[in-house]
Amino acid sequence: MNTLTGTRSDRSVGDAEPGWLLRELRSDHAGEYGAVAIYQAILALSRDPEIKDFARRHMHTEIRHLGAVEQLVPEWQRSRLLPLWKLAAWTTGGLPALFGPRAVYATIQSVEAFVDRHYSSQIDRLEVEQPDSGLIPLLSSLRDDEIAHRDEAAALGQETGLSLPLSIWCGLVERGSEIAVNLARRC
Ligand SMILES: [Fe+2]
Ligand SMILES: [Fe+2]
Repeated sequence: MNTLTGTRSDRSVGDAEPGWLLRELRSDHAGEYGAVAIYQAILALSRDPEIKDFARRHMHTEIRHLGAVEQLVPEWQRSRLLPLWKLAAWTTGGLPALFGPRAVYATIQSVEAFVDRHYSSQIDRLEVEQPDSGLIPLLSSLRDDEIAHRDEAAALGQETGLSLPLSIWCGLVERGSEIAVNLARRC
C-alpha cells in the first residue's frame, strides 16, 4: 500500500495558483471528505465482519488522504457543499451495506475506478501545464491507493457479471460522482 510519507505538500494553495487548479483541488478535498464518509457508513451499517475489516482499512487510508488535502486546501477554499457531500456519501456507502458484500464490493469498485480516472486526468494536465507545481507526487500517491482499493474490491467481489439492479446502481454511482465533482469544482 502506498503512503503519503514524503509526498505531502508543505504549502497550501492560494491566489498564485491558476483557477483551474484551485477548482480541481477543491474537488479533491470534497472527494476525500466523501470517501471517509462512504467507509464510515459501511462500517456503521454492515454486520459482515469481512466487509467491516475491508471498510476499516480503506477508511484509515482515506483519513490520511483527507489530512493531506486539508493541508493543501485552506478552509476558505473548500467546497461550501460539504454537508451535501456527506449525505451523498452515506447513501453511496450505506445503501449497499444493507444489501451485502456483493453490493459493497461492486459499489467501491465503481467509486474507486472513477477516482482513479479523476486523479489521472489532473496528473496528465499538471504534467503539461504545471510540471513544477510539486503536486504530481502527492496526487500520484493518492491515485495509487485508490487503484489498490479498486483492485481489492474487484478481487473480493469475484463476480462474473452484475445483476441488472446492481449494474444500474453502479451506473448511478459513477454518474453521481461526476455530477458531484463538477459541482464541487464550482462551489
Ligand atoms: Fe482517497
Ligand atoms: Fe480510496
